[in-house]
Amino acid sequence: MKLLVTGGAGFIGSNFVRYIYRVRPQWDITVYDALTYAGNLKNIEGLDPSRVHFIQADICDENQIDKAVAECDAVIHFAAESHNDNSLHSPWPFVNTNIVGTFQILEAVRKHDKRLHHISTDEVYGDLELDDPNKFTPDSPYNPSSPYSSTKASSDMLVRAWHRSFGIRATISNCSNNYGPYQHVEKFIPRQITEILEGRRPKLYGTGENVRDWIHTEDHSSGVLVILEKGEIGDTYLIGANGEKNNKEVIELLLELMGKDKNNYDHVDDRPGHDLRYAIDASKLENELGWKPQYTNFRSGLEDTINWYKDNESWWKPQKAKTEEKYQEFGR
Ligand code: NAD
Ligand code: TYD
Repeated sequence: MKLLVTGGAGFIGSNFVRYIYRVRPQWDITVYDALTYAGNLKNIEGLDPSRVHFIQADICDENQIDKAVAECDAVIHFAAESHNDNSLHSPWPFVNTNIVGTFQILEAVRKHDKRLHHISTDEVYGDLELDDPNKFTPDSPYNPSSPYSSTKASSDMLVRAWHRSFGIRATISNCSNNYGPYQHVEKFIPRQITEILEGRRPKLYGTGENVRDWIHTEDHSSGVLVILEKGEIGDTYLIGANGEKNNKEVIELLLELMGKDKNNYDHVDDRPGHDLRYAIDASKLENELGWKPQYTNFRSGLEDTINWYKDNESWWKPQKAKTEEKYQEFGR
C-alpha cells in the first residue's frame, strides 16, 4: 500500500503517519504538506526515509497534486486551515485550502481512479444545546457556524458529490476535538499548558460552559485506519470517544495536574459565534466496523500530554511568542 497523506506534517496528520508507521510496517507513506505556520518537519522526524517520503507542496497546486496522486494507491486528506479563531480574522486561506484544495484532490483522484479518505470535523453540524439528549450522527443536518467549519462543510459536500456523480471511491470521517502531542500552541489545550509553563494564567473564553467532546489523537488515527480498510465506499463515519467536558472543567483539571490553584485563570472575551456544544455518536463506526477508542481516561491522557509539552519545549517555544502576539491582536 502506498499512502499519500496530505497535511502529514501537522498535528493530527503527523500522529497518523507515526501510527501507520508502527502498525502497518509494510506500507509506504508519502507526506504531502505545504509547511504553513502549522506544519513542522520535526513532527515526522526520526522515521526511516526509505518508508516515509516528503513532498513540500500546496494541495491547491493542480500539477503537483496530480503527480503525487498518480503515484499512490490511496489518499488520506488531512491538509486544511484548521483554527476557528484564525478563520474569523482571515477567512480567505480557509476558502482556498479547504475548498479549492479539496477540489484539486478530488479531480486528481477522479482522473487516476484512487481511493480517498477525507478527514473532516464534527463542527460541520453546528452546535447542540447543553441539555440536548441527541448527539451528532452521520445523518445530522449540516449547519456550520464559522468560516472554518463552513469551508470544511463545503469540502465534505464536494466529496459527496464527486462520489455520487463520478463514482470516486471515497469515505469521509467527522471527528471531535483532538488532543495529544504535536498540537500547535494556538489550540486550547496546548495554549493553556504552555501559558502555565511560562508562568502566565490560562485564558478561558466567555463563561467557559462550552462543551467539547475530547478524543486522543491516537484514537482518531485508529478510527481512520479502520475506515480505510473496512469502510463502505460513499459512507460517512463519526469518530468520537464520549469525552464531553466543558472548557472550565478542562482548565481546572490542567491547573490541578500542573500543581496550581484551580482558580488561577483569567476570563477573556468570548469568541464571536462560539459554538456551545459538540457531541459525537460513534455507534456506526463501533457497530459496523468494530472500532473502539483505547485512550478513554481523559485525566491520564492529559497528564501524558502535559509531560510531552514539558519534555519538548524546543518544539513549541519557537511558535509561542508569535502565537500570543496574534491573540493580543484578536483581543483574546
Ligand atoms: P493543523 O493545522 O495542525 O495541520 C494542518 C496541516 O496541513 C499543516 O501541516 C499544514 O502545513 C498543512 N497545510 C495547510 N494548508 C495546506 C495546503 N494548502 N497544502 C498543503 N498542506 C497544507 O491541523 P490538525 O488539527 O492536524 O487538523 C488536521 C485535519 O483534521 C483538518 O482537516 C481538520 O479539519 C481535521 N480535524 C481536526 C480536529 C482537531 O481537533 N484539531 C478535529 C476534527 C477534524
Ligand atoms: P479550539 O482548540 O480552538 O478548538 P475548536 O474551536 O475547534 O473547538 O478551542 C476549544 C474550545 O476552547 C473552544 O470552545 C474555544 C475555547 N478556548 C478557550 O476558552 N481559550 C483559548 O485560549 C482557546 C484557544 C480556546
